[in-house]
Amino acid sequence: MTRSVLSVEEVRKAVFEAAELPLSRAITLPPETYVDPGFFAHEADAVLSRGWICLAHVSQLKKSGDYLRLDLLGEPVVVIRGRDGEIRVLSRVCPHRGADILHPVFGGPEEGNEPILVCPYHRWSFEADGALKGCPEMQKAEGFDKKDWRLSSFRSEIWQGFVFVNVSGDAAPLAELYAAFADMIAPWDTAEMEVVIELKWDCDFNWKVMVENWIESYHHLGIHHQTLNTSMPAAMTWTDPEQGHFIRCHLPFNKKTTEKVMEAAAKDAALDGFKPVAGLPLDRQLEWGLYLGLPCFMLLTARDRVIWYRLLPQSEGRCALLTTTLVTRAAMADPDFAETVAAETTMLRDFHLEDMQVNAAMQAGLRSSKVVRGRLSHLEEPIWHIQRYLARSLRVAEPASPSV
Ligand code: FES
Ligand SMILES: [Fe+2]
Repeated sequence: MTRSVLSVEEVRKAVFEAAELPLSRAITLPPETYVDPGFFAHEADAVLSRGWICLAHVSQLKKSGDYLRLDLLGEPVVVIRGRDGEIRVLSRVCPHRGADILHPVFGGPEEGNEPILVCPYHRWSFEADGALKGCPEMQKAEGFDKKDWRLSSFRSEIWQGFVFVNVSGDAAPLAELYAAFADMIAPWDTAEMEVVIELKWDCDFNWKVMVENWIESYHHLGIHHQTLNTSMPAAMTWTDPEQGHFIRCHLPFNKKTTEKVMEAAAKDAALDGFKPVAGLPLDRQLEWGLYLGLPCFMLLTARDRVIWYRLLPQSEGRCALLTTTLVTRAAMADPDFAETVAAETTMLRDFHLEDMQVNAAMQAGLRSSKVVRGRLSHLEEPIWHIQRYLARSLRVAEPASPSV
């Protein structure tokens, strides 16, 4: 049996109506927002392309020629540091006949160092800033000037050490959109931290399933009842008033963990993990700070680390996720660092496995003919903020053409 499916226009209307409700009457979005290819195409254009998507941290691209190959909303891109030290987001589409110059079929790694990018098809070669360097046997092409044939680039910005791309090219600057967010995370100085753990995950679920799971802590009392809920009970979590372009949640520790951290803070000592970040105010050490830079930049601040999740939405039912841990250079110089990384890699994996299970279960349920629009707990306030952001973003976009 199949449920009657709403058109994209009807889904838009339902999102607008949901966003108008007060938190005390909040309901979930229509299931089409998670499972319908037509709605995803509209959302990719109206929300994801027009927003800022985080692709990298500067510490992942230290040297000139260091690159990351990524696929973003159907665009093959390469994030690469040039000889001038600038990090750019370039298209991988060759300006000669259109080949993806780093397509996985050529067998190259997803990341590495290539000071010169060479298109394997006819060997046109490009500098790491996108300029055409060489092009064999083009001397008889009239009016051909190498300067006119660069790899295209996407608009990018570096914010707090993170490389973001705006595919549409017309978003407001991040310094404006995330201004208050930058102030909140300033004590961690993320531009000076380094990514020391990375784990890749292929996700068979919609990107909103992931960001909603990331930012609401109601589920601590469910899927994490034996893990996170023992130190950060769901009922103690709370959300800052609506900010517009990002969401901030507080996950305070329970009494026992608070006492442990206060004791360690008094001695400036490490607990189980890495050497703590120097100079953090005590109140910030006594909670996890959870952030969602809309649409999908996921960041968590803790006493000794920052956790960052990179999410690349791919289709209505798929996204590519990279979960990472960043620490200070002082923590990396600690004699026990290698051991700590090994232990914390296990922690990062286990931490996310419980969420992977519920996310997969969510997507399966959302595809069912029996799924209904559910009611939200006050602890799910960030989900209501996401709905309101989506509604604002969709409203400024052209309505989608009728779905087929
Ligand atoms: S398509 Fe790239 S060199 Fe011909
Ligand atoms: Fe979780």
